[in-house]
Amino acid sequence: MTDPTTPPEPERIPLAGVIGWPVAHSRSPALHGHWLKRYGIAGHYVPLPVMPEHLGSVLHMLPKAGFVGANVTIPHKEAVLALADVVTDRAALIGAANTLIFRPDGRLHADNTDGHGFMANLRQNAPDWVPELGPAAIIGAGGAARAVVAALLETGVPEIRIANRTRLRADQLRAEFGARLVVHDWVQIGNMLDGAATVVNATSMGMTGRPPLRISLDALSPSALVTDLVYTPLDTPFLIDARSRGCRTVDGLGMLLHQAAPGFERWFGHRPEVDDELRRAVLA
Ligand code: ATR
Repeated sequence: MTDPTTPPEPERIPLAGVIGWPVAHSRSPALHGHWLKRYGIAGHYVPLPVMPEHLGSVLHMLPKAGFVGANVTIPHKEAVLALADVVTDRAALIGAANTLIFRPDGRLHADNTDGHGFMANLRQNAPDWVPELGPAAIIGAGGAARAVVAALLETGVPEIRIANRTRLRADQLRAEFGARLVVHDWVQIGNMLDGAATVVNATSMGMTGRPPLRISLDALSPSALVTDLVYTPLDTPFLIDARSRGCRTVDGLGMLLHQAAPGFERWFGHRPEVDDELRRAVLA
């Protein structure tokens, strides 16, 4: 029998947020806020500005304050792995996490959903794309490129060509991810597009306020699917150039939207939809 003097457990409204430093620029509160409203879920998603030296103590406290999980962004995506109790294989492989679950048993679970976001975006916007049919060419070898490499390898892409301004980072990816990766020289980047079925800009070039990615697309086949992880602007000079050569292009906003879905579903119990209404809400 329950002790009549014990007050009943108050109803808990699930809380989640995005942890970053700075975090004011993050589109995640608008994204999750849209879904919460749309599905009539009593929950909140807030920006959480957390300095690097406070990450550990904040992660310790959040579950005690009603938080069921969080997204993690710059500069915490790598550091959070060392603080987690359970790290998924893909987060370990990528070397970074973006989605945390505060489990009822008190353990901190860390996952990386960027690769899922990348694949789901292309599958949704280019349904007849068959990545297994030809090599992929990835420009860039930073954190975002790592998630793309992991996802494409898992899908069964036969070969991944990669070029990075700082070649050492591309060589490191080759050492970690194995023989299906082939490193190309940055100065001969145009050559690696020859015969590629999938081409990805995973650098920050082309972002508003930065110079465009200037590479020769002469070797690009019109049958290639071309995508950019940059989504400000949606139509980057790189995508415009590829489209003028007859290629199908997919912008990077869908990756942001899709990477958010697994976290939302785990925290708030509803599988959310990624559609034009969400795109408009996030761009507003
Ligand atoms: P992210 O997590 O977004 O990938 P990152 O790890 O800082 O961020 O990686 C940024 C990517 O953009 C890298 O591939 C970087 O090349 P370097 O490794 O040589 O720095 C690339 N990048 C940034 N500025 C660049 C520039 N001016 N020219 C070419 N590549 C650039």
